[in-house]
Amino acid sequence: MKELSLNILDIAKNSVKAGADTVEIALTETEDQLEIRISDNGCGMTPEFLASVTDPFTTTRTTRKVGLGIPLFKLASEQTGGTFHIESRDQAAHPKDHGTVTAATFMKNHLDFTPLGDVISSVVTLIQADPDIRWVYTHTMPGKEVRLDTNELKAVLGDVPLNIPEVIAWITDYLREQYETA
Ligand SMILES: Nc1ncnc2c1ncn2[C@@H]1O[C@H](COP(=O)(O)OP(=O)(O)OP(=O)(O)O)[C@@H](O)[C@H]1O
Ligand SMILES: [Mg+2]
Repeated sequence: MKELSLNILDIAKNSVKAGADTVEIALTETEDQLEIRISDNGCGMTPEFLASVTDPFTTTRTTRKVGLGIPLFKLASEQTGGTFHIESRDQAAHPKDHGTVTAATFMKNHLDFTPLGDVISSVVTLIQADPDIRWVYTHTMPGKEVRLDTNELKAVLGDVPLNIPEVIAWITDYLREQYETA
């Protein structure tokens, strides 16, 4: 994948498919490292299933269809000398406390580091497609933090849907301004 923002889109879509009503996308950057952590309260995965998504190359794709979202995210991080971690609690075993956390670190100075790219577009695309989910986005950088919690917007907007063009444009500007402000 050309940009990590596309991996973020992919991993967050897994949370949507898992039926999550809250999805948190947290980016934490230092001078030389980036961590991307996506947490949801969706249906989760059993330990057996989790083992198979983490290591899809042990399964032949002719006998069992495994997606590429997680393997590509893992690969992108490990290529930079970073680490990948996924943990999950499935709904059947943990009816009150289920969900998934997918996290990867990236060494920014490594030759194979993929730029983050247009993360604002990814976040806006996710909100537009699933405006009823609570999206919490944070990007912490040295000396700067970008933040968006769609619940805070909903409190202000009342019945106005988040995915009408005016609101989507406002969200885009709101994020842009936070990135531009030192
Ligand atoms: N957050 C999650 N909650 C519950 N199940 C998940 C989650 N993320 C992944 N999964 C499960 O792991 C499988 C593999 O995920 P992965 O993103 O690698 O591929 P995919 O979503 O099936 O296909 P692709 O991403 O290539 O379109 C998913 O089909 C889903 O069953
Ligand atoms: Mg996927």
